[in-house]
Amino acid sequence: MKFFADTAEIAEIRELAATGLLDGVTTNPSLIAKAGRNFIEAVREICELVEGPVSAEVAATDEETMLAEARKLAAIAENVAIKVPLTWAGLKTCRTLSQDGIMVNVTLCFSANQALLAAKAGAAFVSPFVGRMDDVGEDGMALIRDIRTIFDNYPDLGTEVLAASIRHPRHITEAALAGADVATVPPSVLKQIVNHPLTDKGLAQFLADWKKTGQSIL
Ligand code: G3P
Repeated sequence: MKFFADTAEIAEIRELAATGLLDGVTTNPSLIAKAGRNFIEAVREICELVEGPVSAEVAATDEETMLAEARKLAAIAENVAIKVPLTWAGLKTCRTLSQDGIMVNVTLCFSANQALLAAKAGAAFVSPFVGRMDDVGEDGMALIRDIRTIFDNYPDLGTEVLAASIRHPRHITEAALAGADVATVPPSVLKQIVNHPLTDKGLAQFLADWKKTGQSIL
């Protein structure tokens, strides 16, 4: 499973990119507002930090303006993936952009039928929002499983399942078990999953025992 960082904060992206384990980035209008950066400049900077797909979302809701915004965003860098909402205008925009060879991430997905439409529109990624479904008492991970099953029934569909709205480490595990192609994760949660108390305890014991040998490897 690929790990994307769900943030527009440059410092966090730089830190995670330095691990060599970051496969891409997703932003959205709320994350851009939170970062307080110029959108175009932030996307350009992120694309220079990360080789993988960097999602940049259009702000328009009509097809004509979405297309104009998308072409401006796509011109920033080759690894820009255009985010469009799961609406008829977004799907028509996705279809046009994907036919022009531009990566599209169809976002705000909350049903398997919506995901199927996004795949039929040629999306590179579809983003089911797991956490926001859980927030209203639905089973967000069941949606990931349903979409995975449907997409596997039709191998010609080239759309990747991008599990989004990830809230905690268990969501990452469950997304991987469900067969998501990507999980886009807040940096705080990504940094959390490397930790386990037994790892820390075991390493401390190894170091203490090694010290007793009085040896040095170098
Ligand atoms: O960026 C798309 C998605 O990951 C948003 O997540 O936490 O705002 O529900 P969240």
